Formats: sequence, structure tokens, C-alpha cells
Amino acid sequence: MVTWMVFTRCLVLNLSDVDAFGLTLPLTTLMVSADISMESQTPAPEANQASTTGAMRWTVHVEVRLKPRASSRFDTIRNLVHSYVTSFERLVLPSTLSGWEDIPELLSSVERISVCEAQCPTASLKMEEMVIQAHVYQPSDGDAFEEFSNSSGSRGEDDDTMAASICELPNRSYEGLWDSLIYAGDIKMKLLDYIHATLVLSDANVDFNLVSWNRVVLLHGPPGTGKTSLCRALGQKLAIRLSHRYSHARLLEINSHSLFSKWFSESGKLVQRLFNNITELVEEEDGFVVVLIDEVESLTAARAGAMAGTEPSDGLRVVNALLTQLDKLKTRKNVLIMATSNLVKAIDTAFVDRADIIQYVDLPSREAIYEILRTCLCEMILKGIVASVTIPTLKQVQMYELVSKVNGRSDVADGQERSRSIGLRLLALAFQCRKQGMSGRALRRLPVLALARYIGLGNVGLAPGPSSSSTQPTAGRSSPSVSVEIWLDGMEKAVDEQAKEAEHLT
Ligand SMILES: Nc1ncnc2c1ncn2[C@@H]1O[C@H](COP(=O)(O)OP(=O)(O)O)[C@@H](O)[C@H]1O
Ligand SMILES: [Mg+2]
Repeated sequence: MVTWMVFTRCLVLNLSDVDAFGLTLPLTTLMVSADISMESQTPAPEANQASTTGAMRWTVHVEVRLKPRASSRFDTIRNLVHSYVTSFERLVLPSTLSGWEDIPELLSSVERISVCEAQCPTASLKMEEMVIQAHVYQPSDGDAFEEFSNSSGSRGEDDDTMAASICELPNRSYEGLWDSLIYAGDIKMKLLDYIHATLVLSDANVDFNLVSWNRVVLLHGPPGTGKTSLCRALGQKLAIRLSHRYSHARLLEINSHSLFSKWFSESGKLVQRLFNNITELVEEEDGFVVVLIDEVESLTAARAGAMAGTEPSDGLRVVNALLTQLDKLKTRKNVLIMATSNLVKAIDTAFVDRADIIQYVDLPSREAIYEILRTCLCEMILKGIVASVTIPTLKQVQMYELVSKVNGRSDVADGQERSRSIGLRLLALAFQCRKQGMSGRALRRLPVLALARYIGLGNVGLAPGPSSSSTQPTAGRSSPSVSVEIWLDGMEKAVDEQAKEAEHLT
């Protein structure tokens, strides 16, 4: 993340005529949305946003997180942030801004201002090339979870399993999740574009008999590739981006396994009861509801089994009830159903057919692994566990790799030599992890394995007490930080060990 501190006065745009996705007229945005969602093409800028010079402009989203107890009006903050951001000459995408602390009203209320990634082909844009969309939000605290019980009250305590949990969005516990998920393809943007497209068509009031969609997204792929996390992160993103339209948003996570009642023939009713509750939530038209059906194969595998005569007909009732309920929800504007699966082949085809987007989430590529491991190391540098050093970005290390392949030698200044060799070593480790088919989950636990087994807890030592702020390096750490080379060594050994363990499993 790069921080820009260039102050130049620029024009301030009228925020009231653009909606959450930077749109003005639905008809023109229709063309825009079709343009930007085509993956293989270089995306076109927002054609509807002509600047004073007549040039095309990109919509750039700026997210403004408020402090927990800030009481300023959102629109006051939005206007202040908008004036502040448009005073920059150029913005890096994505980046975290600083310098706003000099404005007292922002200092007292704002926690963080971040500029989000955009579809544009360059890493930064001039102010006259952008239309700024500022989204102000105040995440609720993580533990405000409620649960839906499955109990009908008639069978006593035993049947009282939790069918779903619900939390308010945006939620503090999902902050940073979106950015932490790294994929080789443009999965995240593709999902946002899908929502964008449904909003455009909904706003245009297209006849649902002629053009329709189901509001269902299915993510599938190997375990540990971030599917569940991506659904939560998308819910969080939507809650932030759609706050202009909806006063609140909720994420409801269905516990698929709990929807099977031990009482034969009751499961279909459980699904129906749960969806009655969901429908009640969706009836609040100023609220947006994201429903996450995690590991949906456990719910929907049943029908295929039932048809083959191997499953009790209760399973059939569950799938039928689910399909009926999904069909009822599709006409609602303020709901999104996200389902995940590790085993898409096991899912009922009627369910798969209802998904507007069926997205395969693959194991991370070498490049994505590099970024995942780099963010692990950067976090530990930030917290003072790894000694401070510059770890090259993916683009930089790819350049180093190219140059050393062509020249067979390093082509950097002396001061950069260490950073270059760290980068190349991390890239080699990423290649090793890729060869073993390691998941994002396995990668993110490498540092803890390296620490426990190879670096030695004694070398890192425990901080004197819990850090007062989770974003600041731990001041006064009793033991010195360990060099990144030692960490790389430990992580390489941990990967080798995992490879040996994997051989035993096969
Ligand atoms: N592509 C990825 N980029 C970054 N982190 C990832 C990625 N995939 C998985 N992870 C890490 O693994 C954790 C578990 O992922 P999860 O969402 O439970 O995977 P799944 O639902 O596919 O089994 C995530 O919270 C994240 O820390
Ligand atoms: Mg999962």
C-alpha cells in the first residue's frame, strides 16, 4: 500500500447524482457494466462519466471507516472526505490515505480512509481521470451474533439445533478480509460486477419474465481456498458499497448439516421454517440480506441419492423445499444467496442450474502464493516479530526474476541486493508450495509451523503483555526480532516437512 500526499485543489463532484457503484443513468451504465465485466478485454472506463475536459473517467471507490463511537453525521464526513480526496493530484489504487488527520472533524471520527482497487489498467490515476465514490461506514462489533433455532418447540429441548447464525454487516470481524484474499484470476471483481449488473437491471425495472436471474452465486473448489471467507468478505463489501441504498445489511449463515432433523420427515419443514425467517428479514426493504449456504453439497446431494434409491426420502424433501424457497426469493431486490461447495459434482443439478455464477476457486498459483506469503511476512514485520526489511512486491520480484534470467546476474543497486535475494528466495518457496498444491489455508499457517518447529519460541519471545493496538508494532518487545532469512529458512523446512507428511497420506 502506498500513501500519497500530494495536495492540489481540484473540482468537487456532486455526489448526489451517482449511486453506490458510480452510476448515473441506468441505460448508459448498462453498456458500461457489459464492458467492464468482460474478463479478457482491457476494461473501458465509465463511459457515462465525462469530465470537464470531455475525457472518460473511472469510478474509484473510497471507503471511510469510522471509529466505534464516532457520532458525526455520515453525509458530513462523506463531503469532507470527498473534498479532501479530490485535492490529490493523483491516487494509487489501491492505497491507504494519510494526511486527513489534519482536518479536526475527520481526526475525531475517522479511523481509516482507503482507496480501493479499480478495473483500470494502470496502478494510479490522475484526479481528472476519476469519479470518486466515498462510502462512509461504521462496522458493528464482532460478537453481535444471533442464532436461529430449528426448534418448533413441540419436541422438547433435544431438537434445538442451530440452523443459522446472523450478524450485522459491515462487521468489525470481517475488516481486512477482502484484501487478504488473493487470487490469480479476477474473481473478486467478477463477483462485484455481477452484483453491479443485477442492480442496473433491477433499477431499469426489466420485466422479470423476459430477463431474469436467481440471485444465487456458487463458489466451488478444493478445501481451504477461501470460499467461505470470500462469501463473508463479499457480504462486507456489499454492505459498505450499498450503504447509500440500504440502511443496514445482514449476513445469515446456514448451517447445512443442522437442517437434517433426527425426526424422520421433519427436515423439509425445518428448511421451510428457516426460509420463513429469511423472508421476514428480506421484507424489510431498507435492509440487504446476504445468505451463505456453506458446504451446500451436504444439503443438496440428497436428491441424487434419493433417486438412486439409497437415501431416505427426507433428503428429497430438503432439496425440494430449498429449491422452492430459492425460487420465491429471486424476485426480491435486496437479497443475495451465496453457496460454497468442495464437491460440486455431488450437488443436485437443479440447484447448480439456479446459480447465476458458478465460480471455480482454484488452489493458489505461484504468484498468488508469493503474495500470500509476502503479506504473512509483512504482518510479522509490522508487529515487530520479524526484523524490518523491504520485501519486494510481486511486480518487483517478477522484474528481478526476468533480469536475472536474461543477464544471469543482478542488476540492482547495492542497497537493494538483499531485498532482491529475499524476494527471489520467497518466489522459489512459492514455487515449491505450488508444486505441492498447498491451499491458502495451509500457506497462512506456515509461519506458525516455522516458528514452533524451526525458529524456536525462545528466539522470538513473548511480548510483555497484550498489545494495546493491533495495528501498531509491539513497542518494548523483550527479545529482538529475528531476521527474515531465518524465517524463510524455517518456512522452507516446514514446506519440506509437509511434503514428506503428504507422501505418508497417499
Ligand atoms: N486465496 C487465498 N488468499 C489468501 N488467503 C487464503 C486464500 N485461500 C484461503 N486463505 C486462507 O485460508 C483461510 C480459510 O479459508 P476458507 O474460507 O475457510 O476456505 P474454504 O471455505 O474454501 O475451505 C482463510 O481465512 C484465509 O486466511
Ligand atoms: Mg468453507
